[in-house]
Amino acid sequence: MKKEIGDFRVLKIKHYQDKDFMLYVRPLKGELPQALPGQFVNIRVDHSPQTLLRRPISICDIDFNSQTLLLYIKIVGEGTQALSSLKEGNVINMLYPLGNGFNTEGINHPLLIGGGTGIAPMLYLSKWFHKKGITPTVLIGGRTQAALSLKDFFKDTAHLLISCDDGSEGEKGFVTQHSIINKLSSFDKIYTCGPMVMMQAVATLAQQAGIPCEVSLENVMACGIGACLCCVTPTVSGNRCVCTEGPVFLSTELTDFNN
Ligand SMILES: Cc1cc2nc3c(=O)[nH]c(=O)nc-3n(C[C@H](O)[C@H](O)[C@H](O)COP(=O)(O)OP(=O)(O)OC[C@H]3O[C@@H](n4cnc5c(N)ncnc54)[C@H](O)[C@@H]3O)c2cc1C
Ligand code: FES
Repeated sequence: MKKEIGDFRVLKIKHYQDKDFMLYVRPLKGELPQALPGQFVNIRVDHSPQTLLRRPISICDIDFNSQTLLLYIKIVGEGTQALSSLKEGNVINMLYPLGNGFNTEGINHPLLIGGGTGIAPMLYLSKWFHKKGITPTVLIGGRTQAALSLKDFFKDTAHLLISCDDGSEGEKGFVTQHSIINKLSSFDKIYTCGPMVMMQAVATLAQQAGIPCEVSLENVMACGIGACLCCVTPTVSGNRCVCTEGPVFLSTELTDFNN
């Protein structure tokens, strides 16, 4: 899939609770190229000496009619803090679209599980399935209700399930304790993104149920194009670059998921 580098105009920025915000951007020139769910952008953070390296962010959604790309971001450090200060009309530079994306071929009963900012790529994936005539089951989880700002975005495309660690919404507990986990055999594939421990627990349950599970890794990155090797992850076939050969892998390929 063709990779581009280009400037994007900030159309809108919406701030949520829990230090999360949604950035709506449109290319200054040309049209958005096609992108797969699970692919990401690498954003240059201007005017900040602490952020020489671009910051990788998953594609949360794309509206090709209005040529708008949505990025859902949590403030964790200098780079994301600087991005949260963008205003309507500002311009940002991005490499787009990077990585491999989820494989949806031949899947009719998918279960998507997202935690924290790992919920972001699940939105575009859920819409991708919906366009193919499949309504996916999407389970999202967070520490509290405040971490679930994206939930309304799923209402037209998914059968949405929620869990919260503190029970403030949906079922109380981790996503792996949700009652849908007792029905894993009704799904033909699980897709997950979120904190490493969550994905490892999801992958273990998937393996026990004999269902393939794709995980999207969020390793720290620099170049995003396979040049610096700072993002490698050990796999059963040796070290592999998460930015070019991932971020999506089958859980059974990853050494960190099979100890
Ligand atoms: C493929 C991919 C997709 C991603 N998608 C999203 C997304 O959709 N939304 C979102 O909010 N974030 C996403 N991330 C994580 C995001 O890239 C980091 O949070 C961001 O780069 C941190 O930059 P910073 O300058 O704000 O923080 P820094 O100052 O660089 O770091 C602050 C803290 O965050 C930690 N951190 C830095 N990078 C990561 C990382 N990749 N994962 C976990 N912790 C990290 C650091 O260890 C440190 O503790 C994604 C990462 C990858 C690799
Ligand atoms: S981030 Fe540079 S090789 Fe992956």
